[in-house]
Amino acid sequence: MTSVHDWAAPNPVSTNRSGLIGKPVDRYEGPLKVTGTAPYAYEVQPPSPPAYGVMIGAEIATGRLTGADIAEAEAAPGVLAVWTHFNVPAQPPRGAKAHPRSTAGSNPALENDKVAYFGQPVAFVVADTLENAVSASHLVKLTYAAETPDVDFRARLEDAGQPPGEQDVEIGDFASGFTAAEVQLDETWSTPIQNHCQMEPCATLAWWEGEKCIVHTSIQMVKPAQHGLAETLGIGRDDVHLLTRYIGGGFGGKGGTYDDLALAALAARALGRPVKVAFTRQQMMNATIHRPATVQRVRLGAKKDGTLDAFSMMTWTHCNRNGNFTEHASNFARALYAAPNRLTGHRLVRLDLPVAGPMRAPGEASGTMSLECAMDELAEKLGLDPVELRIKNEPPVDPENGRPFSMRQMVRCLKEGAQLFGWDRRLPTPGLVRDGRWLVGMGMAAAIRGNFLLPAKCGFSVEPDGTIVVRQGMTDIGTGTYTVLAQIAAETLGVPLGQVRVEIGDSEMPPAPGSGGQFGAATAGSAALMAGMNLRKAIAALAVGDPGSPLHGGSPDEVTFQDGVVAISNRSETLSDLIQRAAPAGIAVEGEIRPAADAREWSTQTYGAHYVEVGVDPITGEVRVRRMLGVFAAGRIINAKTARSQLTGGMIWGAASALTEANPVDVRYGSLLNQDLAQYLVPVQADIGEVEAIILDEVDDKANPMGIKGVGELGNSGAGAAVANAVYNACGVRVRDYPISPDKLLAGLIAQGM
Ligand code: MOS
Repeated sequence: MTSVHDWAAPNPVSTNRSGLIGKPVDRYEGPLKVTGTAPYAYEVQPPSPPAYGVMIGAEIATGRLTGADIAEAEAAPGVLAVWTHFNVPAQPPRGAKAHPRSTAGSNPALENDKVAYFGQPVAFVVADTLENAVSASHLVKLTYAAETPDVDFRARLEDAGQPPGEQDVEIGDFASGFTAAEVQLDETWSTPIQNHCQMEPCATLAWWEGEKCIVHTSIQMVKPAQHGLAETLGIGRDDVHLLTRYIGGGFGGKGGTYDDLALAALAARALGRPVKVAFTRQQMMNATIHRPATVQRVRLGAKKDGTLDAFSMMTWTHCNRNGNFTEHASNFARALYAAPNRLTGHRLVRLDLPVAGPMRAPGEASGTMSLECAMDELAEKLGLDPVELRIKNEPPVDPENGRPFSMRQMVRCLKEGAQLFGWDRRLPTPGLVRDGRWLVGMGMAAAIRGNFLLPAKCGFSVEPDGTIVVRQGMTDIGTGTYTVLAQIAAETLGVPLGQVRVEIGDSEMPPAPGSGGQFGAATAGSAALMAGMNLRKAIAALAVGDPGSPLHGGSPDEVTFQDGVVAISNRSETLSDLIQRAAPAGIAVEGEIRPAADAREWSTQTYGAHYVEVGVDPITGEVRVRRMLGVFAAGRIINAKTARSQLTGGMIWGAASALTEANPVDVRYGSLLNQDLAQYLVPVQADIGEVEAIILDEVDDKANPMGIKGVGELGNSGAGAAVANAVYNACGVRVRDYPISPDKLLAGLIAQGM
């Protein structure tokens, strides 16, 4: 078995001879995207003209579909099929697996007459054009037996129970520690439902070639989607060829699949022609997943010098009626601060709401909104600087399991951030700084997010012209996967970036777990490094074994790879000369990465510190984010540009979480109120002033062979709390019920006589 110590050995990425690793190279697929030639699933050209499917969502939150009058819709112009559960083609029951090792079971569309949430797809219309399909969808008459939906989360907190299989985690004696503490804080925060709002809605295009289903879809994880679709269609797994080449955002919302996938494939089979199905923006809100709302109670007990004696974070959250998803907002807190007495846990209530699921930095994004504000409030009670309070409680080892940190530069992030931001200019007393009509304040928060490595494979080949081809069943949801794989390949084989081709998003390529949990670059990239090293070995052996090569007879270990040339000291030839002559069909190899057997002996996280300056208009309650700075430590960075972009994107999301973003439940109907991006408020350019992300130089050789960690979610952890703390510092009002919208802030300002 591999040990993390094996990873410390030099490899082409760590040696970085060509200097490509870490370089801010442009996006591999950038030119395709800006010229409109990177087709999203819905835009792929099928082999023959497609039909267009539209889904119809339930108009009740809970109950049964009792009838469907589809005659008028079926008779409408161009209509090819109208399905409800009454006449949809048969599919194996939910979860069924004909192939025992499938990574997902059957996921039947229009499954039965049960309506479990508002907007659940209950009918489906296919026509020759999108217009005809939409038009006919209005002619479908559905009747329901509606029940009263149970959807009011705040009213149901008392009924919440332990999430299945979970216990509270207590270390020491929290109650005694808290009671005995010299200074105490006990406050409750709440966060709202958020929607992923990817720019590209979920969509699928499917057609059949004989027994084989070709399907282009927008998803984050290839294998489960392929397997789940095969199980749903009742066909062999290899009879689904699933492609997801370009993806317009995922954020966790495309981690699973939705009814577009099965419906497109079933309709294409039934009609014998390609079928496209896309969610509308409105359908994305209710009929995909969302980040559930939370209520979070934080209790902190400290000595007068700021040392934490006791700490507790309890989270209440909700999921859908049949679901088990839990927003683990308390989890990150377990690794963040030292304290001898600690209690964390979660409570879950099932409601008749749309399906709750993971969204970027699941847990941290919500959870830091309470704890990192609680630390700010505690600092004020203690008369301490909030940065100092955090440094004082920095744990030497993982505070819950005693494991050493693989590498933890939290304090450096805090200190460098403070210095770069000009934190020393902050006045601890709120409301003292004005700029025209604006009250100006500064706030900060810590950031933390776990780091993961999953099993993955990758294929590398060299073509006769010397092109290195990377093939992997990996996805790029806009994060930069194509680009970092190209960099790793170019650096590993010593060729220019232009000599690398990256092909991903295909179920027939070596499998990788996909994009999620900020494990993508580490996981897919480590497999790519392994494949690249295997290809180096194969090429070196070819060169020294080929009598026609100037390298002939040399030692394969001495072969160097640089600038498209293979060499042993001053004997050299180009890679393309070698391959054309000695392996005219090219050479293909695979590489594989698995977590090391001893990887869990270390506590491995990514870290950061956020600093924010806001202006508050005391007349309107409006908040403007003037400056955001994040300093992060996340292992080796493969691409300074895409990494920075991930981090600043996460930070901006944090600002949205603090100030604008929410989807309230209409408790009368069980629906999410906001239906589009006019009502669901995410920041636009004008909302965000300066944003900068600084990344510390770091290599975490316990994380994976490249020493990299993840940045996809880290920026979203803590950013919102820093904004909220800045709002308080500006105007002296704490709003603990997010978002801090003008109405809530104004109420606080009025209450304090401003
Ligand atoms: Mo993610 S929210 O783990 O795609």
